[in-house]
Amino acid sequence: MINIALPKGRLGDQVYKLFSEIGYDCKSIYEDNRKLVFENKENEVRYLLIKPSDVSVYVEYGAADIGVVGKDVLLETGSDVYELLDLNMGKCKVCVAAPNGYTEDEDNVLRVATKYPHIAKSYYDSKNKEIEIVRLNGSIELAPILGLSDVIVDIVETGTTLQENNLSVREEIIPISTRFIANKSSYKFKTKEINEMLNKLAEAIADD
Ligand code: PRP
Repeated sequence: MINIALPKGRLGDQVYKLFSEIGYDCKSIYEDNRKLVFENKENEVRYLLIKPSDVSVYVEYGAADIGVVGKDVLLETGSDVYELLDLNMGKCKVCVAAPNGYTEDEDNVLRVATKYPHIAKSYYDSKNKEIEIVRLNGSIELAPILGLSDVIVDIVETGTTLQENNLSVREEIIPISTRFIANKSSYKFKTKEINEMLNKLAEAIADD
């Protein structure tokens, strides 16, 4: 049995579709309930539905053998896992954004609101810039509007959220996409099964 950590939500649905196309379907996953574990004994897969930001932790600790996760989560958690394939899905960028017309006050320490404190800190460290981080879990765009922070470090996909809140991108930090990852010892002991899945995934995304 291979335990697969899937991010709950739109990306997870898209990824599950891909997995089912290459032969790892698990029909019960579409049952309308609150279950978090779905298993298909026939093709020996068990799907675990996990909060996206926790996927790499489940894989790092071996609670899941493999998983699908955004590069943003890997960078933020620094999880020690194998990154086997870029699935080229969920493409976006981590950016610094600020209210339109914002100018920095050089006399004060820049206050940065984010759900990515590590990414933000290492970015500003690389520029030798001291910052203060305000750690939030969502609706980050609100912070500079209400004066809780000067800028934000967040994911920008279509740019709609920034635009609708009168913010704009100031700096692009790093491009992000979804990665297929594996637990290190699972990869050692289930090499054949994981490589088979990896090859099928690589083929499927090359065909797209
Ligand atoms: C993410 C991100 C931005 C938004 C960007 O939020 O934090 O707010 O998506 O997407 P866009 O550029 O296409 O508008 P998410 O939807 O994960 O919700 P959250 O605010 O709860 O983090």
